Amino acid sequence: MSLPPATTPPADPPHQIIETPDGSRTAHNLRFGEAYGSRHGAHTQARHVFVEGTRTDVHPAPRVLEIGFGLGVNFRATLADAVARGVRLDYVAYEFDPAPAELLRAVSEGEVGAKHPAWQEVLDRWPHAPFETQTEDVRLTVHFADVLSADLPQDWATALYLDGFSPTRNPEVWTPDFISRLAGTLAPGGVLATYSAAGHVRRALAAAGLSVERRPGAPGKRECLRAVR
Ligand SMILES: C[S@@+](CC[C@H](N)C(=O)[O-])C[C@H]1O[C@@H](n2cnc3c(N)ncnc32)[C@H](O)[C@@H]1O
Repeated sequence: MSLPPATTPPADPPHQIIETPDGSRTAHNLRFGEAYGSRHGAHTQARHVFVEGTRTDVHPAPRVLEIGFGLGVNFRATLADAVARGVRLDYVAYEFDPAPAELLRAVSEGEVGAKHPAWQEVLDRWPHAPFETQTEDVRLTVHFADVLSADLPQDWATALYLDGFSPTRNPEVWTPDFISRLAGTLAPGGVLATYSAAGHVRRALAAAGLSVERRPGAPGKRECLRAVR
């Protein structure tokens, strides 16, 4: 009697890499049906909305909390800025669905911050949990966990990058309750930034006691938000 032929499990569908107009890349996330970063310029969005939006580009010792780490585009933009200014960066991110290491590699190849030893270690060890790497200019910790049930640091972050896919696709990270928890992670004077300028997000940020400011958006978006504790 012969055994039935072994069935090969279906391969994961390939991630679609997107080349964006500023020369940087992002990719399409199949689970949420949305791109990780802006199709109008992934690096430009990271720099404008998050690095400059939180004023991390002028902070002498930034401590960044990010939701979620995704492809690390925001991390590399922040790292490159800190290295260019000679300041030390402490970066803590949450990510519950780590993208494959080869996708992080393909998106970052030749890009901003990609040559830094900390990024090389990300590529070498990803997604080995718990992930922590330290060099003389940066400490990066990535928690592979659902941020909704995580014990978040309190009064710690000088900057919070709220980048967990859009409110329509991932409403759980935009609820007033969760935003109020996020506000508690900010140190006094700390700044939360996000690409969404939706009215319900603005109201949730204000209800959490933050001072909300609308800013011009990155390419492709009219406005984005900054909220200061
Ligand atoms: C828009 S992408 C982030 C892009 C990323 N900041 C970058 O620079 O490449 C959103 C990320 O948030 C993660 N995410 C969404 N909800 C989450 C949750 N509840 N806990 C942890 N990570 C979450 C997703 O898996 C995804 O990788």
